[in-house]
Amino acid sequence: MPQSKEIFLADSKSGTKGSKQTDFQLVRVKNTWCRIKKDETIHDAENEIVVSQAKISETVSDGEVSWTVETPIYLCYKVVETRGLLDPSNKTLLYGHIRDPKELERALHNKEAQRRFIVIDKTVDDLYGTAVREYFEANLVQCKILSLTTTEETKSMDLVLDILQEVQIFGIDRRAEPIIAIGGGACLDIVGLAASLYRRRTPYIRVPTTLLSYVDASVGAKNGVNFLQCKNKLGSYVPPVATFLDRAFLKTVPRQHISNGLGEILKMALMKHKGLFDLLKSHGKFLLDTKFQSHSGLVDHGDAALKTTRIAIETMLEELAPNLWEDDLNRLVDFGHLISPELEMRVLPTLMHGEAVNIDMAFMTYLSHVKGFLSDSEKAHIIQCMVALELPVWHKKCTWHLIKKALTERLKHSAGHMRMPLPTGLGTADIFNDISEETLERAYILWTSECKNTSAEA
Ligand SMILES: NC(=O)c1ccc[n+]([C@@H]2O[C@H](COP(=O)([O-])OP(=O)(O)OC[C@H]3O[C@@H](n4cnc5c(N)ncnc54)[C@H](O)[C@@H]3O)[C@@H](O)[C@H]2O)c1
Repeated sequence: MPQSKEIFLADSKSGTKGSKQTDFQLVRVKNTWCRIKKDETIHDAENEIVVSQAKISETVSDGEVSWTVETPIYLCYKVVETRGLLDPSNKTLLYGHIRDPKELERALHNKEAQRRFIVIDKTVDDLYGTAVREYFEANLVQCKILSLTTTEETKSMDLVLDILQEVQIFGIDRRAEPIIAIGGGACLDIVGLAASLYRRRTPYIRVPTTLLSYVDASVGAKNGVNFLQCKNKLGSYVPPVATFLDRAFLKTVPRQHISNGLGEILKMALMKHKGLFDLLKSHGKFLLDTKFQSHSGLVDHGDAALKTTRIAIETMLEELAPNLWEDDLNRLVDFGHLISPELEMRVLPTLMHGEAVNIDMAFMTYLSHVKGFLSDSEKAHIIQCMVALELPVWHKKCTWHLIKKALTERLKHSAGHMRMPLPTGLGTADIFNDISEETLERAYILWTSECKNTSAEA
């Protein structure tokens, strides 16, 4: 047994203003957690000792005691690009989230009937519902498939509660039966929030079916719904246990939606990957035309679809994983998202999210040019690439007044600094706080004079 006397001794130090702080670490012996002083070790020959990463600091001041708890929270999720996700012989959708080989072995040999609760976007259900049902039937899974219209208009707490009611009626084993969401970003956001609320955190799986959700909405931890006319006002940072990506779903996505998703890919290209930018420049139209369906690759395009989604996801994961809860406000992935929220709300529903983001990125490209970070030809290459991807590069409602208003809002919500991501070359970027109004206005005038006629909105 551990020496109990030691357990309750602590490493004490004097704090400011007569307070005394004592730092403890936590150890578990025989299923009981207890505090021991920082840097102290305990020995127990008979029992395993588990040391937690959590810490408790106790402060005694003026006869009052307070405890400060620091506890790292471990999150782990998988993002898997696969093919034939709905092929009944492919077990990824059922077991691909299981990381422990022994647990996987047990699950694969489990003779008891599996159960799954699935939420599927209504349009996706119309297109793929038969295949989804056949998949679960063939795998002898007892399932409830809830088909819902999931759009920006229905993305609300009401729909979250409707889903939760059905989950409660169906009943799931929280540990073994993750909820499955199949649809675009709206569907995944709604179901993710529902799962994060059910029994405080129920594992869920994302199956994105649009390009935007494939490369963006599925890759991180965020979920959410709109509230009181504000976009994504209610939500949480709870990642799925796994995201399963199958490009086959993209073949039915309308061309404008593919273009919309390409805008998010271009964002990552401009911020951090020249190779991705080159891919989009050379193969963008092909990707649009083929909706990312070419696996083996046509002669001139190699596996452009595979390379593009892979780099987009990897670069996105690099930026998200170290900052999953967005504690650090300096985020390159905010590129294209400083002015676009204001513009999007102003012109709803005429612009899709990715289109508004692209108009923002086009303006920022001019700003970078005026700041001297991008040459004339680099600026031209970027705008040409956007146009080739069929993305708008200017909008009449994106006025100088709107830009100033959006950036004032940005300052309010980013702890007093602009934190403006800007390209500093093709595929390199940095974050800036010192952009003067005069520079912004010069960029706006140049942007309008050069891009106004490129746009259908001129
Ligand atoms: N959580 C995040 O990190 C994150 C990131 C980016 C965007 N989002 C959210 O994602 C949403 C936008 O996602 P979206 O662009 O995927 O749009 P969406 O989910 O609104 O879907 C757009 C339309 O496409 C249809 N659809 C979906 N898959 C289809 C398919 N395979 N074939 C044909 N039609 C299909 C849907 O029925 C819908 O009508 C927004 O609500 C946004 O806030 C979330």
